[in-house]
Amino acid sequence: MQSWRLLIYGVVLLVLMVFAPHGIMGMPVWRRWRSRSPVAPDAGVADMHDRPVAALTLTVHNLHKQFGGVAALQGCELTAAGGSTHALVGPNGSGKTTTLNVISGFIRSDKGSVRIGEHDVSGLAPHRIARLGVGRTFQTPKLLHGMSVLDNVRLGGFASEQASAVEIALGLPRGRRDCHDSSAAALRLLRFVGLAERADDLAGDLPHGQQRLVEIARAMVGHPSLLLLDEPAAGLSMDELDRLGALIEAIVALGTTVLIVEHHLELIARISRSVTVLDRGAVLAAGTPDEVFSHPEVARAYMGREGTGGSR
Ligand SMILES: Nc1ncnc2c1ncn2[C@@H]1O[C@H](COP(=O)(O)OP(=O)(O)O)[C@@H](O)[C@H]1O
Ligand SMILES: [Mg+2]
Repeated sequence: MQSWRLLIYGVVLLVLMVFAPHGIMGMPVWRRWRSRSPVAPDAGVADMHDRPVAALTLTVHNLHKQFGGVAALQGCELTAAGGSTHALVGPNGSGKTTTLNVISGFIRSDKGSVRIGEHDVSGLAPHRIARLGVGRTFQTPKLLHGMSVLDNVRLGGFASEQASAVEIALGLPRGRRDCHDSSAAALRLLRFVGLAERADDLAGDLPHGQQRLVEIARAMVGHPSLLLLDEPAAGLSMDELDRLGALIEAIVALGTTVLIVEHHLELIARISRSVTVLDRGAVLAAGTPDEVFSHPEVARAYMGREGTGGSR
């Protein structure tokens, strides 16, 4: 009996998704009764959010993670002060992405802890960590290429939507209001990253650099208190790099704490308050950008030379 009911629900959902993707109230027959389109043309303002977020400090303590015979993390530590940018740098394979994966709950560490503000999030599932206000982007952008840029960004707001799947599927008032609000917020973020005019294009049609900016917009829709960026500058043009720097500064000005993994040392020096250098999963150096980049061991091990600054 139970399986019949599930089967019927499944068929109804499939029929709705294929023939009425905008809900029953969104079907052409109803449209003339509705005056409001999902996104008002004037929706959104020039700034990114309508409200600031709480600044939360991220504290990562003594993380260890072993993948078979590979020790990816061996005592990784860092503190990103609330409402500031902290950079995590190091050679390829030094454990930077693994650190982001542990913080966001994608993988569990063998040892150590992660605190975000007052919350100990060690070992929590990714969706629970996301609900605490953690957004992230990936080293290789993970967008749904067959969906529009706007819909990809809207996906980032799932945790704050109030309407049930049924209310959205049937296009009932709360479902329509959520759709309208999330579209307006997504458009506002796309304007902020300079891609509003690509809102209706397929995400897969965007160049790689722009896909990275769409991912940042998607991560910001949920008003994150902590934003994790994994090599956001990879593949960006000089113009896009400048825009990324300004974008991260604006995100921090809202109160969001940013942890950025990046190889562009000029960008890091410009936007970061503090830096941690990882080497084979352990901390090689930590401090302000000036302190870290003039550290002789960092210059030797990471930049391949003695002295200060530069990029790789
Ligand atoms: N899921 C995994 N399975 C096995 N080994 C992994 C996995 N993820 C990362 N590693 C290994 O852990 C080490 C650190 O990887 P990673 O954190 O991706 O480094 P980084 O981001 O600093 O380049 C590398 O040797 C990598 O091959
Ligand atoms: Mg990586």
